[in-house]
Amino acid sequence: MFNKFRLGKKQEHSSTLRDKIEELKKQPIPEHVAIIMDGNGRWAKKRALPRVAGHHEGMKVVRKTTMLANKLGIKALTLYAFSTENWKRPKNEVEYIMRLPEEFLGTFLPELVENNVQVKMIGYKNQLPVHTLHAIEKAIEETKENNGLVLNFALNYGSRAEIIDAVKQVLNDSKNGILNETDLNEDIFSSYLMTSEFKDPDLLIRTSGEIRLSNFMLWQLAYSEFWFTDVLWPDFSENHLLEAIEVFQKRQRRFGGIL
Ligand code: IPE
Ligand code: IPE
Ligand code: MG
Repeated sequence: MFNKFRLGKKQEHSSTLRDKIEELKKQPIPEHVAIIMDGNGRWAKKRALPRVAGHHEGMKVVRKTTMLANKLGIKALTLYAFSTENWKRPKNEVEYIMRLPEEFLGTFLPELVENNVQVKMIGYKNQLPVHTLHAIEKAIEETKENNGLVLNFALNYGSRAEIIDAVKQVLNDSKNGILNETDLNEDIFSSYLMTSEFKDPDLLIRTSGEIRLSNFMLWQLAYSEFWFTDVLWPDFSENHLLEAIEVFQKRQRRFGGIL
């Protein structure tokens, strides 16, 4: 299946899409958008295909979404690609998912470089297969000078484990005199998380109709705007992203205050 894979030709947006993009850019665009890309398995099941076919299709949507996010001037796009709980899945499915970064970046990396996109990753690297990590690290290295959209893959990421690890590091730094207990505050704690270099997401999108976080960015999403859709990830289109942003722009963020 891999060698049959083609991403198609260079992406051009239709004039209606371009108009919508320009319209949205008149209002503030969320700086950090995070997406729980869910529903690949159900997409495949509906077509009597193996679940992995849904993951493969979903990868094409990652490309489209990234390019549009870049055009919109979104600064960071975090994509939840694999959770620390997803290892519970059948071995063949996990193995397939762990091949996708190579396949995706193998084809797509030149386009990312050309479009000034910077690749990053959050999650536990040490449990990833070597070939998966190698593909990601290569992409990180080759795009490190870029300063456009940051495409951040949450791969083998789990928020509770991340928080526990941050607490352990805080305790360690406190024991070693690097951090004073009295100095610990929310900003300093955030700097111990895997997302330390990112601002908290402004907008969280989850596809597939599930209304839950599934252990994603529990700390960081405290004041994010949520947008849920029944659309399955492989069916998520550019118009869906534009719709989410339009809804975001109509929301009033109060952060506990009053306007
Ligand atoms: C999301 O799609 C991708 C991953 C979790 C890796 P799913 O594989 O969870 O698809 P559904 O939810 O079973 O339809
Ligand atoms: C969340 O989806 C993880 C990713 C999208 C990578 P899941 O499909 O694993 O979530 P649950 O199991 O339905 O909560
Ligand atoms: Mg799912």
